[in-house]
Amino acid sequence: MPLQPEHRSVHTETQSVPAVSVCPAGECFPLPTSADYEREWKRLQKIVREQRLLGREIVVVMGVGFVGAVMAAVVADCVDKTTGLPLKFVIGMQRPSTRSFWKIPYINRGSCPVEAEDPEVAPLIRRCVLEKGTLTATFTYDALSLADVVVVDVQCDYHKETLGNVRQGSADIAALEESLKIIGDKIRPDCLVLIETTVPPGATEYVAYPILRKAFERRGLSGCAPLLAHSFERVMPGRNYVSSIRDFWRVCSGINEESRRRVQSFLSDVINIDQYPLTVLDRPIESETCKIVENAYRATLLAFLHEWSLFSERNGVDLVKIIEAVRVRPTHSNILFPGPGIGGYCLPKDGGLGVWAYQTLMGFEDDIFKITPLAIDINDTRSLHAAGLVRDALRNMGRIVAASRIAVLGASYREDVGDTRYSGSELIVRKLTEMGADVAVHDPYVRHWWEFEKQDVYPSPGSSRSRFFRNQEKLADLRITRDLPEALEGCDAVVLAVRHRAYLQFDPDEIVKMAGSPVAVVDCFGMLDDAKIRRFFELGCEVKGMGRGHIQRIKEEVRAGKSPTDSRGAVSPALDT
Ligand SMILES: NC(=O)c1ccc[n+]([C@@H]2O[C@H](COP(=O)([O-])OP(=O)(O)OC[C@H]3O[C@@H](n4cnc5c(N)ncnc54)[C@H](O)[C@@H]3O)[C@@H](O)[C@H]2O)c1
Repeated sequence: MPLQPEHRSVHTETQSVPAVSVCPAGECFPLPTSADYEREWKRLQKIVREQRLLGREIVVVMGVGFVGAVMAAVVADCVDKTTGLPLKFVIGMQRPSTRSFWKIPYINRGSCPVEAEDPEVAPLIRRCVLEKGTLTATFTYDALSLADVVVVDVQCDYHKETLGNVRQGSADIAALEESLKIIGDKIRPDCLVLIETTVPPGATEYVAYPILRKAFERRGLSGCAPLLAHSFERVMPGRNYVSSIRDFWRVCSGINEESRRRVQSFLSDVINIDQYPLTVLDRPIESETCKIVENAYRATLLAFLHEWSLFSERNGVDLVKIIEAVRVRPTHSNILFPGPGIGGYCLPKDGGLGVWAYQTLMGFEDDIFKITPLAIDINDTRSLHAAGLVRDALRNMGRIVAASRIAVLGASYREDVGDTRYSGSELIVRKLTEMGADVAVHDPYVRHWWEFEKQDVYPSPGSSRSRFFRNQEKLADLRITRDLPEALEGCDAVVLAVRHRAYLQFDPDEIVKMAGSPVAVVDCFGMLDDAKIRRFFELGCEVKGMGRGHIQRIKEEVRAGKSPTDSRGAVSPALDT
């Protein structure tokens, strides 16, 4: 079995030091040496021999990132429903890059390599590694040769070249292709390869299958058809992270009859299919398209409300109340208030993967996609409007953004999670900084906002959204505070950017007290009720809100000394900005 020495060195002027991988907490882990590979291979062979004697299926999860780490633990935790004994032994496999290698020693000491709000995640990983002995992690690709099933959970990104034009971008399937090449070189011919990564529709059949087939041919296995399946993840960051993998409906498909049978059998062991039955589709392109359609649908629904949000602001309408009223209809119950930009890892990119696949993998030249890319573009730029409202609110108080200290409350992409990927708040901070503001950020769930702290290299070198704005250099020094009074002290404006539970309890008097004087308040997520809006005005503040045109009416009532009931139903007179 060939070994893979990937011992890289960093050369300084005077010496050569081994490269290290640094975990978020700052601990350094030297990358493996050739001798480590040899030792690791022996360790894995021994464990797998023992596990096979126990009758367990060997599963390699490739890519122990946000999804793969928890999926690996869910698989490692599954048991035979009659005996209660573990069914699988899982090897989490992670390439030993300086960025990600640390995840391997982390898992092997029973620690969780991803930050999750779900209290089940950390104990699940600890239990499987340290108590049940059903989970380990490795850096050697040779682990693949031991697998009965390989689950692929590597990333597949979409790179946008401009802000607000998803068509000027492309899918980055390099990690996926690289992974499949390695898999094709290593796996046994009867091993099932299950792709969970969200891929451009067609990728399993047009990209993965040919790669595996050619690798098999090179290895003299021409008679063996690769066993290849696709089943996408619907995992949701937040307090039900584990449950959103295990106790949730799955869609799956296989490239041929045997692959379909194997993937159903695998998922039936791992997923709670009694309560959440599997949907089996005929071809992988159907399961891939299903993932893209469900995310493009959600993105479209949110983008569509952007124009009604602007309409509401300009015509005295409160979109929050409109949405509540519409939602009463059972057929319209999934209507959502759009926050300041639609983030998370999936919604900003998945529709783009579909458009890209149609043109690139399938080679169509006509332009059938109108709504899907437009929705992403609208969502990607909605947060710039939030920055515009901050400007308008400050102007109404006789101040300008450039001379203001602005507190942004909430950094994550949605409420009560610490996930900051592609959050609307990031663009609010970037735009206000471009306009000259001094920005402070508070979030109870986020310790490090890597999009700023490591903006030169995160999410990858050259891909930071800093490139779409000027004056961003100093944002590398931006540090999130969990101390609200510290964030608010001396600020001119407060941006309520995320509906975190704690923020819904805010008392206007407290906010003004912490700020030290009346402030401009911008509500981006329908967080302030009318009583709070009124109170802010009574305290001498200015208030604006995305989709909340009725605020002007409350302002006029307060200025006229009227109670809320006096002017109910009155048509709003001329508005200031
Ligand atoms: N994060 C979510 O909320 C979410 C939800 C649903 C679906 N998904 C999908 O799941 C997939 C994975 O997303 P993620 O959030 O876990 O990404 P991630 O970036 O956190 O993890 C990917 C991991 O794969 C590793 N990797 C890349 N190439 C490798 C290789 N050749 N060998 C071994 N490891 C390799 C990376 O180092 C990284 O640790 C994506 O397709 C994503 O769209 C994510």
